[in-house]
Amino acid sequence: MSASNQTSQIADTSALVLLWCGAEIYESSAVQRYAQMLDLSRGKKLFAVCNEIWPHYESVIRFRKICIQKEAKSILSHGDIRQVIVPGAGFSMLGIELFDLFSDIRVFELDAYQMQEKQTIVNSVFGATDREFHCMTVDVSDIEECRKCLTAAGWNCDEPSLMIIEGLTYYLPKDSVRSQWQYLPEKSKIIVEYLVPYEQVKVGRRDIPKQVFEVIMEYCSGALDVSHWSEEELKREAGVRVEFCHSLSDIEGLITGESRFFTERHEGWIEIAGLTRCSA
Ligand SMILES: C[S@@+](CC[C@H](N)C(=O)[O-])C[C@H]1O[C@@H](n2cnc3c(N)ncnc32)[C@H](O)[C@@H]1O
Repeated sequence: MSASNQTSQIADTSALVLLWCGAEIYESSAVQRYAQMLDLSRGKKLFAVCNEIWPHYESVIRFRKICIQKEAKSILSHGDIRQVIVPGAGFSMLGIELFDLFSDIRVFELDAYQMQEKQTIVNSVFGATDREFHCMTVDVSDIEECRKCLTAAGWNCDEPSLMIIEGLTYYLPKDSVRSQWQYLPEKSKIIVEYLVPYEQVKVGRRDIPKQVFEVIMEYCSGALDVSHWSEEELKREAGVRVEFCHSLSDIEGLITGESRFFTERHEGWIEIAGLTRCSA
């Protein structure tokens, strides 16, 4: 299978994620309008197979999305960062939510697929406006091309940005992941979600993500390696400082006030870290 077919099928995972958790967690009316215009049929096949592996997988995606939106809103509410970049955005609703709630931000979404389609939907959701929401078609591992597209769209490379890397790190080699934040200026903020290494997840749980990603990778041609990260590794990264790291157990506790699915850190397999770009 060609690389472009493979990436095209990774794009189906964007619909898969939205089948697990959609507009119900967002507060803006723009997201509700956007949700009504989406066709998620491309994700249905994977959705059925993944739910067979673990019927509660929806909770993982829900906790991840609620946590990321809370952190993004908290960063933007300080008022000093007004540019938001979302690599691998797919049909995610988060950029739309933030754009609707923060009237002075500019949003730049990047994905290899279906970005023209998304731009058309976004334009129709917001109607005529001189505000800037750009959906751009680009391979996010091609950093020069990303910078070029962003700059052409009006991104100011000297002004700190918020970058949200969600649902993407597993599909990219680690060097491509770190190159996402390396082109941001100092004081930029990065929210990054990642899969923790297999051996760091408790026995009895570690095979759930393994099987789900095996199914996804097989669907996407079987040729990709899945990348993993850990808090310790992020702490050793040059050019970024770790500000927070939330496990699924922390997030479930914060959101629901109890630990139903993830009673301790090592029962969960994704984490969400907040980084600040700093000198290397
Ligand atoms: C699992 S979806 C996640 C979508 C969204 N970020 C979310 O969390 O809901 C992965 C997305 O990454 C995109 N993607 C994967 N590799 C990419 C690449 N090299 N360049 C651009 N987009 C990529 C896919 O097209 C897809 O839309």
